[in-house]
Amino acid sequence: MILKVANITKAFGGLTALDDVSLGVATGSITGIIGPNGAGKTTLFNIITGLYTQTSGEVYLENKKISFFSPEALAALGLVRTFQNVELFGQMTVLENVMVGSHTKSSSGFLSCAFKFPRQIKEEKLIREKSMRWLEFTDLDDHAEMRADNLPFGKSRLLEISRAMALEPRVILMDEPAAGLNSRETLQLAKLIRQIKELGITVVLVEHDMDLVMDICETIVVLNLGKKLTQGTPREIQENPAVISAYLGVS
Ligand SMILES: Nc1ncnc2c1ncn2[C@@H]1O[C@H](COP(=O)(O)OP(=O)(O)OP(=O)(O)O)[C@@H](O)[C@H]1O
Ligand SMILES: [Mg+2]
Repeated sequence: MILKVANITKAFGGLTALDDVSLGVATGSITGIIGPNGAGKTTLFNIITGLYTQTSGEVYLENKKISFFSPEALAALGLVRTFQNVELFGQMTVLENVMVGSHTKSSSGFLSCAFKFPRQIKEEKLIREKSMRWLEFTDLDDHAEMRADNLPFGKSRLLEISRAMALEPRVILMDEPAAGLNSRETLQLAKLIRQIKELGITVVLVEHDMDLVMDICETIVVLNLGKKLTQGTPREIQENPAVISAYLGVS
């Protein structure tokens, strides 16, 4: 298990968004997290990636306790994510959006270098080349110099994935990567996620697109009303009466 969530509870005032949720993510797997709106899926990702602090419970990355680590510290450890609502720097170019991610890993700060020394110039060139390779990976290299806010929506989701990949993660969490994509883009996404897995990277996916989830996930965790309903293979999940009545039957 590369990632473990142990007894996570998260209360927002009187609302319990997550109630004693535990799960494990097998190294190298594609794991899906599904459940109705408001089930707590994004809240769980926010806790794992250090954006929210849990009320109780712990998170482990390869048996190292990472509860309460900052998102930056977690990215440095190889845990990265994409967002349900795409979060890009709209006024920067597509390429710069990927480079910004990489700079958090480099030794000389991105904005701090008013004077560029040869080493920094060389480092920036390397980051630019590496970032271009991740744009190629998502087939966005033709758009490298376009302003990010001019990208069609489907491509902005791919850009978020490029940026996360440039951090050279061991685990990537994707929050509804297929939301807003057309069927052709969703097929491209499925292929891309499989390629990410083939690179040895563990993928955790929150998604409402059941065709995609059932197609690419090896294990699926079902959340409902902040609780873990069950976990199983796509077939087990599809045949589980509790899941059908809580989620699959009504969607
Ligand atoms: N920052 C917050 N403050 C207060 N309540 C919150 C906050 N974030 C989430 N919630 C509440 O926690 C519950 C779980 O929300 P969450 O966004 O995790 O659901 P979700 O499973 O991701 O749903 P969706 O499929 O619609 O994205 C909801 O009732 C939501 O209103
Ligand atoms: Mg959500």
